[in-house]
Amino acid sequence: MPEQEHKKVTVPGLRARKSSGPKIAAVTAYDATVGRLLDEAGVDVILVGDSLGMVVQGLSNTLPVTVDEVCYHGRAVARAVRWAHLVGDMPFMSFQVSVEQAVANAGQMLKHGGFESVKLEGGIDFAEHVRAIVRAGIPVMGHVGLTPQSVHAMGGFRVQGKGEDSAARVVADAKALEQAGAYSIVVEGVPADLARRITDAVEVPTIGIGAGADCDGQILVCYDYLGMVRDLKPKFVKRFAEVGDAIVQATRSYVDEVRSGAFPAPAHCFGMVGKKAMGEPTGTEPVVGDGPAAYGPTSEE
Ligand code: KIV
Repeated sequence: MPEQEHKKVTVPGLRARKSSGPKIAAVTAYDATVGRLLDEAGVDVILVGDSLGMVVQGLSNTLPVTVDEVCYHGRAVARAVRWAHLVGDMPFMSFQVSVEQAVANAGQMLKHGGFESVKLEGGIDFAEHVRAIVRAGIPVMGHVGLTPQSVHAMGGFRVQGKGEDSAARVVADAKALEQAGAYSIVVEGVPADLARRITDAVEVPTIGIGAGADCDGQILVCYDYLGMVRDLKPKFVKRFAEVGDAIVQATRSYVDEVRSGAFPAPAHCFGMVGKKAMGEPTGTEPVVGDGPAAYGPTSEE
């Protein structure tokens, strides 16, 4: 997207998308390099999800992730993102204990994580916590349906709201969050009909994941839609690229060229000062770069 078409995405702007459209395109990111690429691609929202426990740390669920870890990744992404709205995920046990704990940790996320709003899982049970965080001036994105921090209570990562009682509970959770002041609500792992019902029932945008096509937006974990986790393909994920395959293929080529001596070629080597030839950096140039910091000489001049 040409730079002039970008506009900073804000909470009021996201709320307005419920009626004005277009649908909200949200993704996760965990580091500056990927954050910069996704921002440049024009996403509306970047979430530093506690999914980092699974895709970055290799854990089997998100429960061990801490506020400090989310903030560490948040600071990295925040340095790179210019346009997207940056959301920090409140990890397990960072908001559940008390209203005071929830407000204090949400504050830490904005102070130390570079976030512009926070997301937290749960509905009616945590509506008071959401209300207090919002009252403190911190925008909150809710999260209902399949809430991964309740993996043990749910008996695994299972689709929620399949029966009428359970569906009505998810709708009530979403309404409670809206009434508590949440500016948007992630709806995860529910039947498409239920997601439509929730979307019709609340006046804030719903952002679906594994929740069909009728939400006001969609969110995916970037490692999933980029094809980074090659042995896992949840039903709700579309792979828009096979970056995992590309990484393995490129690295195989690197290994081959190192072993054969084809890499590095003269173009990748530094010459002595005074013996500089076209295309041959001297190695004495200052470290320069517009945007991402260069960590080595980038050119001859
Ligand atoms: O942690 C996460 O990445 C999330 C999204 C999948 C919604 O909560």
